Amino acid sequence: MNPKDRIILALDVDTHEEAIKLVKELAPYVGAFKIGMQLYNSIGPAIVQEVNQLGGRVFVDLKFHDIPNTVGAAGKVLTRLQCHMFNVHAAGGREMMQRVAGEVKKEAAALGIEPPLVLAVTVLTSISEQQLKEEMYVEGLNVRELVVKWAVMAKESGLDGVVCSPREITAIRDACGAEFKIVTPGIRPSWSEANDQKRITTPWDALDMGADYMVIGRPITQADNPRAAAMRIIEELEGTNDAE
Ligand code: C5P
Repeated sequence: MNPKDRIILALDVDTHEEAIKLVKELAPYVGAFKIGMQLYNSIGPAIVQEVNQLGGRVFVDLKFHDIPNTVGAAGKVLTRLQCHMFNVHAAGGREMMQRVAGEVKKEAAALGIEPPLVLAVTVLTSISEQQLKEEMYVEGLNVRELVVKWAVMAKESGLDGVVCSPREITAIRDACGAEFKIVTPGIRPSWSEANDQKRITTPWDALDMGADYMVIGRPITQADNPRAAAMRIIEELEGTNDAE
């Protein structure tokens, strides 16, 4: 894959104006733009088509978790919107994941378009071992074991990949094989600020561990020169600069 296509820029803004400015500036330097609850709920689904028209692709990060029929229907709508990827919670269960995977493929075939990638979110990285036991009543499995079990279940259900912490890449790659897509946030080049991210990984290390795509926000959007920052990350992924 082209290194540029591995970069997913997090559009963590809430106005149309800020989002479009970033898309216009960065579409040639990143593979896709991640639109999450903040932006989607501020300005609505038309942003997906608008980004497409500006030459960008969209990862709709809304983490669906509902009954199979509802999530299947939502997946169908996102397919019509021609997003590039979207995600659902593996905690919604096997049937929910099978349904959404099926609906997406059916709708894409009917429209004659490429289906979006459907990704699973396993255990959120904000959930601690203690919360898993005391609030979710999961006994006998630690976070990592549950993450891998849910990643395998997502694959068996027909999903294309997962979103996970860099710390989980290797275990998921081993369990799910080379074709399964792995998308990871928490990425910081050696030259950028950590911000509020606690466990960070460089783009090169994430790639080396087996990630397919990296969600990157502030190291690019808050840089003095966002285009130059994106280009520097591309070079790091190509191995053509001195990545640490
Ligand atoms: O600006 P930064 O590079 O930290 O942005 C990372 C993006 O990835 C944000 O949109 C954040 O919500 C998302 N994310 C994350 N860590 C997770 C899951 C998602 O940083 N565990």
